[in-house]
Amino acid sequence: MRLYWFMAFGVLFAYFMYCPLPDGIAEPMTLRVVFATRQIAKLVGIGPVLFGFTDRINFTRLALSFQGRLFSSDEPSVTFHDEIFDGVRVHVYQPVEKSNEPIAGMVYIHGGGWVFGSVDSYHHQTNYMAARLGIVLVSIDYRCAPEHPFPVPLQDVVKATVWFLQHAKDYNVDPHRIALVGVSAGGNLAAATANLLTLQEEYKQMSLPKVKFQGLIYPCLQSLNFLTPSYQQNKNFFILNQHMMAEFWSLYLTGSLTYVAAMKVNNHTSPPVKKDQRHIMHHDVIPTEFKQRDYTPPNDSDFGDVEISAHLESYILNPSFAPLMASTVEGLPPAYIVTAEFDVLRDDGIFYAKKLEDANVPVTWKHYKSGWHGMLTLFTGPLTCAVCKQSMDELLQFSRDNL
Ligand SMILES: *[C@@H]1O[C@H](CO)[C@@H](O)[C@H](O)[C@H]1NC(C)=O
Ligand SMILES: *[C@@H]1O[C@H](CO)[C@@H](O)[C@H](O)[C@H]1NC(C)=O
Ligand SMILES: *[C@@H]1O[C@H](CO)[C@@H](O)[C@H](O)[C@H]1NC(C)=O
Repeated sequence: MRLYWFMAFGVLFAYFMYCPLPDGIAEPMTLRVVFATRQIAKLVGIGPVLFGFTDRINFTRLALSFQGRLFSSDEPSVTFHDEIFDGVRVHVYQPVEKSNEPIAGMVYIHGGGWVFGSVDSYHHQTNYMAARLGIVLVSIDYRCAPEHPFPVPLQDVVKATVWFLQHAKDYNVDPHRIALVGVSAGGNLAAATANLLTLQEEYKQMSLPKVKFQGLIYPCLQSLNFLTPSYQQNKNFFILNQHMMAEFWSLYLTGSLTYVAAMKVNNHTSPPVKKDQRHIMHHDVIPTEFKQRDYTPPNDSDFGDVEISAHLESYILNPSFAPLMASTVEGLPPAYIVTAEFDVLRDDGIFYAKKLEDANVPVTWKHYKSGWHGMLTLFTGPLTCAVCKQSMDELLQFSRDNL
């Protein structure tokens, strides 16, 4: 009997392995396994969701924590524990061996579209990074949407970061050697935090130590334009597609999915808003070699729903919500920006790199030509891939050189 189950599972898995992938993407077999696993997890979730034991979002959260545990390795040189920093739950990783000299620190902000993800589901990354770097790493367990929409996740991140900057010495950390690193939606929160701490009067007056660098790993930085070249080119890529990104932004904004349909066709902004902001995201900023596949230049910006726009403008144009909208970025901490070719968010990263460079902020921009959104997750474990490992190694190297 067990054999039949096993065979049925095998057939199902093989069936789900078929998934269309673009040319030139790294490790298509690995991605097919990821795809099949995800489809089966969805199938498993149907029962409990249908019978009301959980909901789609909570089920996905659970599945991701499970995955995080599956991939995590023991790091004997690191200990970790939970703490509360100014009311915010964090995971603190510290070297077992105490150093006589103050060491470097890192604030780490996990990804998951402000909705999924947790310090647990990213534990395999943070534990590994803390061990390789020999630093104190603080992973923030910020509250997520839809239960806690904007600005709650950002407020949590800012509070915990400020607290760590102020109390670094209690952890034997040199407060002038602390990086702020965020992945995906965490990259949005990292960039917004860097922006607030540098430019907002309230924080300027606190004379906080300056963040050593901001690491933005395939960040999402704007919700004005869902038809950038990279959004067009990776519109249907299963790992992260345009629809999912519109859902995430909508949930982060309102806790509901009200604006998804409008966002997907850029109907959520009025013609004047589009016209005003065109310079920030002009497609000419994206190098020609990036626009060779599945791309149509925009025809027209004279459309959009004025009512929806009036409702959303104050958020969409707010740099705390969408850091690319900042009117000034001068004096921001140096940035390490990672982009991947197969990622709807590629151009968010490129636009921001350009914007920071124009304001003389030092930028190290790493683009992975065969990489995809989320690649860093697979730097180790049963599905390790070369570009995944490379992107992790290069992040670690940059951190060593700059902390
Ligand atoms: C997830 O579960 C928690 C605790 O049971 C509940 O409060 C929350 O509303 C659920 N989230 C969603 C999106 O339904
Ligand atoms: C976009 O807006 C136009 C004009 O306001 C409307 O006719 C159209 O149905 C909208 N489309 C979507 C998908 O919201
Ligand atoms: C531009 O117009 C053409 C023809 O009307 C259409 O097929 C194409 O999708 C449009 N491009 C964009 C980015 O909307």
